[in-house]
Amino acid sequence: MHLDDLEILARVSISEEKEELIANNDGEPQSEISHILSEYILDRSQYEKVSSLLLDEMEHGLSKEHNVSAAVKMFPTYVRSLPDGSERGDFLALDLGGTNFRVLAITLNGLKVEMKNKIYPIAPEIMTGKATQLFDHIASCIDNFMAENGLSGQKLPLGFTFSFPCKQEGLAVGRLVRWTKGFKCEGVEGEDVVTMLHEAIKRKGLGVECVALINDTVGCLMSCAFHDHNTQVGVILGTGTNACYMEHLDRVGTWDDDTEEPKQVIINTEWGAFGDNGCLDFIRTKVDRDIDATSLNPGKQLYEKMISGMYMGEIVRMIAVECAEKGLLFNGQVTPELAQRERFYTKFVSEIEEDNNEEEGYPKVRQVLDELGLVNVTTEDCRILKHICSVVSTRAAYLASTELTVAVDGSLYRFHPHFHDLMFCMRLSEDGSGKGAALVAAVANRLRSRSAQLVFVFKLMLSEDGSGKGAALVAAVAYRMKLMSPH
Ligand code: BGC
Repeated sequence: MHLDDLEILARVSISEEKEELIANNDGEPQSEISHILSEYILDRSQYEKVSSLLLDEMEHGLSKEHNVSAAVKMFPTYVRSLPDGSERGDFLALDLGGTNFRVLAITLNGLKVEMKNKIYPIAPEIMTGKATQLFDHIASCIDNFMAENGLSGQKLPLGFTFSFPCKQEGLAVGRLVRWTKGFKCEGVEGEDVVTMLHEAIKRKGLGVECVALINDTVGCLMSCAFHDHNTQVGVILGTGTNACYMEHLDRVGTWDDDTEEPKQVIINTEWGAFGDNGCLDFIRTKVDRDIDATSLNPGKQLYEKMISGMYMGEIVRMIAVECAEKGLLFNGQVTPELAQRERFYTKFVSEIEEDNNEEEGYPKVRQVLDELGLVNVTTEDCRILKHICSVVSTRAAYLASTELTVAVDGSLYRFHPHFHDLMFCMRLSEDGSGKGAALVAAVANRLRSRSAQLVFVFKLMLSEDGSGKGAALVAAVAYRMKLMSPH
């Protein structure tokens, strides 16, 4: 896979039967609702422009010269090999950044993977509180999980799936560039999150060591590649959106590490930031701008805000409110629930689009409307709301479309009834964030134990690197590449 193939990744293919939600400018008089929705229905040339802009942005991100000003950062992850099925051992994994925070215990044994996991809620005060509070909470969850699973006192290697943009300096060193989605914890941006995790682990007196820091897209790719060695791309469509892929080293202008075999590295594109330089303004609507302005990160992640699960329900809600206020929907009712920001969950969009039971007057749509306090709704109201949902989710799916067979995961993709069909050819990654973290940790761990002496040699070579541990792990991966090299 290289940048030429990325053109395929970025290109949007729209087949005949999917054209109905693409602009139809045949001069028919538009109803007021169609008029409101028309800015969400892009035409083929607009989608093609988005694709080619994304490709340009990705090229900029890879280039040493343009990376500083690029919106799509294309971070090298230091993961240079996909799992080969020989990974074995017991691992812990953390998954932070999606809908939930989870701790997992994973046993890898050939192609057999055993997993236990527990979800731990993170209170909104912690998501937007102080760094130490967040990391101490994570360490407490690890402690609780180990105790509940009879693992207390064990020195287990840990893979940390941290689904935010990080500039990695090694396999287990990564500085948070900025928070996205619902997080805004003070004192983490610019810091190495593995160091912060280790400090909290130490405060808690645990014997766990983080050997790999990965993005959820990388977990998704690793997990799918474990079962299908041809997988080259990982895409997340969940609370946020992002993609990663395996790239040739000679195309990565920003690469500053060794260039031994295999001459490749997984690139975390961070495509959610596409448009942050204004290049998508030609398709952004009033609602897109409003959602951005009131978000935790105004001006950032503009592509993500048009696509992902954190925002889709809110886009639908705002359009529905506009229609209701104009007397076009719900007989003009705007209940306090409908008026409340973020109260129209993205899972409602899935539930509404799933309901094709017109004969019974759309019972599931009515159930959702009931939750929003809307009474006396008509079947026509339900039909219109279904149409609004479909226009918004179709725009999201087309914007995120690819023609490749890729590993894909995320709550939006899993639970929305048509996202898959609209995006074609996808393979669902079974618990990539958890399993993938364990796989990266397993590769790192296996190489380290297999090559203690040479790790040392490489460790010396890389001793300039700030973190000894991270350097040793990068060295371990480098050693494996050396083993695989024909020379
Ligand atoms: C983050 C990415 C992540 C994506 C999906 C985005 O907000 O910046 O790092 O992969 O969400 O979770």
